[in-house]
Amino acid sequence: MTRIAVLISGHGSNLQAILDAVTSGALPGVEVALVVSNRRDALGIERAIRAGVPTVYFPLAPYRQAGRPRTDYDADLAAILHAFRVQWAVLAGWMHILSEAFFARFGRNVLNLHPALPGQFPGTGAIARAYEAAQRGETDHTGVMVHKVPDEGVDAGPVILQEEVPIYPGESLASLEARIHAVEHRLIVEALQKVL
Ligand code: GRF
Repeated sequence: MTRIAVLISGHGSNLQAILDAVTSGALPGVEVALVVSNRRDALGIERAIRAGVPTVYFPLAPYRQAGRPRTDYDADLAAILHAFRVQWAVLAGWMHILSEAFFARFGRNVLNLHPALPGQFPGTGAIARAYEAAQRGETDHTGVMVHKVPDEGVDAGPVILQEEVPIYPGESLASLEARIHAVEHRLIVEALQKVL
């Protein structure tokens, strides 16, 4: 069994896609060994509990309040994954950048899901920024990618899978978001099938 951890910050719909794929047999040999959330109220935590997956709530704020460096948080995060014998970490809506302190301890078996194509719209709000660019006539598409995370770069690294998503004239942001999320839910599972 390959033990993976899914790191989340919120809704956890991509986590759900992974859990469903494990249940349906679409990810043979993969076990979701742990879900880590940096937000206590993340719906993804509920999803993990429902699936019988251990969860860890691991916020950054106490480190900041104690004046401890970010590297401490990242090293401790890596230690938690080690304790659960996690072999791969999947960032599915994880809203923190991992620093070298994490990689030094955990290694580089890390995947990230991002709702944009490589080199386009890194960081938060990627779907809205692509949508706005389309309204200005600067683009007619965006996309989804899953890539390896080799270092501290934001939404950058060797691409495992990518898929273009058209932005239709006159469509709402909500419509684009819904179509992108549907692609994400499929692509994250396909990427895990490919890599693991
Ligand atoms: C996804 O769009 C993911 O690509 C981005 O954050 C969102 C998380 O959604 N990085 P969810 O929590 O999996 O529903």
